[in-house]
Amino acid sequence: MADSPHIDGEEETQATAAELEAAGQSALFGGPVDSGPEKPAPLAAAAAASPAAKPVAAQPYRVLARKYRPQTFAELIGQDAMVKTLANAIARDRLAHAFLMTGVRGVGKTSTARLIAKALNCVGPDGQGGPTIDPCGQCEPCVAIAEGRHIDVIEMDAASHTGVDDVREIIEAVRYAAVSARYKIYIIDEVHMLSRNAFNALLKTLEEPPAHVKFLFATTEVDKLPVTVLSRCQRFDLRRISTPLLQQHFAGICVKEGVEAESDALAMVAAAAEGSVRDGLSILDQAIAHADLEGGGKVTGERVRDMLGLADRSALRTLFAALLNGDPQGLLALVDNQYSLGVEPLALMRSLMDICHRITVAQVGRSGGEAATAEERALIEEWAEKLSPGQLHRLWQLLLKGHEEVRQAPDPLVAAQMALLRVMHAADMPDPGTLAKKLEEMAASGAFAGATPATGGAGGDAAPQARVGLRRLTGLRLSNRSSIRAFPAI
Ligand SMILES: Nc1ncnc2c1ncn2[C@@H]1O[C@H](COP(=O)(O)OP(=O)(O)OP(=O)(O)O)[C@@H](O)[C@H]1O
Ligand SMILES: [Mg+2]
Ligand SMILES: [Zn+2]
Repeated sequence: MADSPHIDGEEETQATAAELEAAGQSALFGGPVDSGPEKPAPLAAAAAASPAAKPVAAQPYRVLARKYRPQTFAELIGQDAMVKTLANAIARDRLAHAFLMTGVRGVGKTSTARLIAKALNCVGPDGQGGPTIDPCGQCEPCVAIAEGRHIDVIEMDAASHTGVDDVREIIEAVRYAAVSARYKIYIIDEVHMLSRNAFNALLKTLEEPPAHVKFLFATTEVDKLPVTVLSRCQRFDLRRISTPLLQQHFAGICVKEGVEAESDALAMVAAAAEGSVRDGLSILDQAIAHADLEGGGKVTGERVRDMLGLADRSALRTLFAALLNGDPQGLLALVDNQYSLGVEPLALMRSLMDICHRITVAQVGRSGGEAATAEERALIEEWAEKLSPGQLHRLWQLLLKGHEEVRQAPDPLVAAQMALLRVMHAADMPDPGTLAKKLEEMAASGAFAGATPATGGAGGDAAPQARVGLRRLTGLRLSNRSSIRAFPAI
């Protein structure tokens, strides 16, 4: 099946596109600005040669993140607000001369910069079109930009060109008209890496560039840009992509790749991506490789869980229950068990925090919608009913502190055990609100009557009374705990 002529043809076009894509990427991360057009040649040659020699096996493997770089705005997921603004600006011919794309890693900044370059320079299949939010992908400028070889679209990686000289080159070149395109476009990636002098040199040009020039900046660290630069750009904040949208995107890619994947597995990959498409695709790549290695080729929840070192969700729930029920031996056994299965103590703490968070939001009326199973949702809702908001918030604080300790400790497992035991011991202490109420009740019922003379006070001072009351109350609570009773010295 795989060696039918039709598939071969398809493979070949894909391979070429892959290398061209890689070429686009290498123009970005490669050497000097003008090395772009030279780089693709050997790569393209290699791509043309390899499928002919050995159709499938010799095909260079291309990571998913590169293979699925959005080629149209429709393919760019989760950035609708930005696309809409851009579409409006193009339709009304109100284009800024400098754009700034910001956002965390792997949410589409570089892709957007290239798409804008296409949008501005597309001439349509008939060569008559103007700037459009929907570039045709067929005209000469579109093709050349996608391949990273358009002479008027200059990509520069500020991380390796930080100096004032690099910027001077641009300033010089800006004066000359575009060679063949409508606009001469400078894409400066990781722009926050430019030196202060470099920024200063750029300011004047940025203020009033010639009409045929557009600057597209991308950065993950917008805080590092001088305000003088910020104020000269139209800024687009690219969002983190929501977990459900990522999951849907990955499911689509699996279908295109002909890979079978359980939705549970994709949900885990999407959650681990933390809003970054690229991170998610890298994890997915790894998951597919694992699945292939172990035979079957199916990406299952269990494999992804193992791969990510995540705890089994049901084991986590049991662990959380042990925390709440004050079962120290059960708790330690569960922690050990998860550790021996390869779950990182830090990941364990994080997952417990996640449960705590979900219970808390479930309590204020947002259903535990992100829960994977009905069973989990039911349990979360049950906990939300049983636990008081005060308890949950204290639990969160304790887990957060434990998380920090585990991160810094020389032995994370030991730190996790200590932290969780502490959480357990503190978990069912009354929260300050309940405590205050209890104190008031006790005061009202005259429970402090005997304590007053002992403090030597005038009898009307509430503070010493409260202290004694507190001691009584907590003493009472603590003595209920078998674990504490076992260590009377504490
Ligand atoms: N919004 C998105 N929609 C679809 N795919 C995306 C999106 N964002 C990123 N990707 C995927 O991730 C890859 C990398 O995206 P891109 O280079 O645009 O990210 P970036 O924001 O520039 O990241 P970095 O901060 O690391 O430079 C793309 O090739 C694509 O596969
Ligand atoms: Mg980038
Ligand atoms: Zn076009």
